[in-house]
Amino acid sequence: MRLDIFTQIPHAFAWLTEHPPVATVLGTELELRLFNYRDTTPLRAGQVDDEPYGGGAGMVLRVDVVAAALEAVYGSARAQRVVALTPGGRPLDQPLVEELAAEPALTLLSSRFEGFDERIVEHLCTDAVSIGPYVLSGGELPAMVVLDAVARRLPGALTPGSGERESFSAELEGGVEYPQYTRPAEFRGWAVPDVLLSGDHGRIETWRREQSRTRSAR
Ligand SMILES: C[S@@+](CC[C@H](N)C(=O)[O-])C[C@H]1O[C@@H](n2cnc3c(N)ncnc32)[C@H](O)[C@@H]1O
Repeated sequence: MRLDIFTQIPHAFAWLTEHPPVATVLGTELELRLFNYRDTTPLRAGQVDDEPYGGGAGMVLRVDVVAAALEAVYGSARAQRVVALTPGGRPLDQPLVEELAAEPALTLLSSRFEGFDERIVEHLCTDAVSIGPYVLSGGELPAMVVLDAVARRLPGALTPGSGERESFSAELEGGVEYPQYTRPAEFRGWAVPDVLLSGDHGRIETWRREQSRTRSAR
């Protein structure tokens, strides 16, 4: 996949590219490009936003700035999905992550302050996505959330087997994962469930499925 992220803070993504899963697939299954709206803005002095029509606090990311940024990279033709990260978008869940991870190329647009001029979302984007019903100060963290969630679904990102059986996977019927434990078997009187120490793989499997179903029903 080729993933393009447009942001006002490209350097914010550095740490994420240095650690798995992004680092694992970078250069093979994932090509990541970061673009700064300021580098292609048609306005003077790197201006990218402006005051909202109708008044009100804050600054709004300009449509001409985003159009120029997209055209500088893609020209006038653009076949891939362009996703605006915005609190009012489609909620990000695992099915949407799988959908996005299956795309050969994807573009994420982040904003800051008061957000996007609505014409960006209407005319320059194919999707609007929210990472949850709360407001962050910018689209960089949401873009990182999408990047991480998508990267771990790419081939080779995870150790074999670990990505097929986790929360929201088909293996767990879309439910959340069963509880996991490791050594020591007892700590401060808190014991690991006996079944996990039994060596009986059939009972362990049954117990895990029950736990997953019970937790998912909450
Ligand atoms: C302060 S927010 C803008 C909030 C906007 N004025 C509103 O009330 O919906 C600035 C930017 O952060 C990003 N952002 C904040 N919260 C987000 C969320 N929950 N999901 C996706 N993007 C978000 C978006 O790119 C947004 O344009």
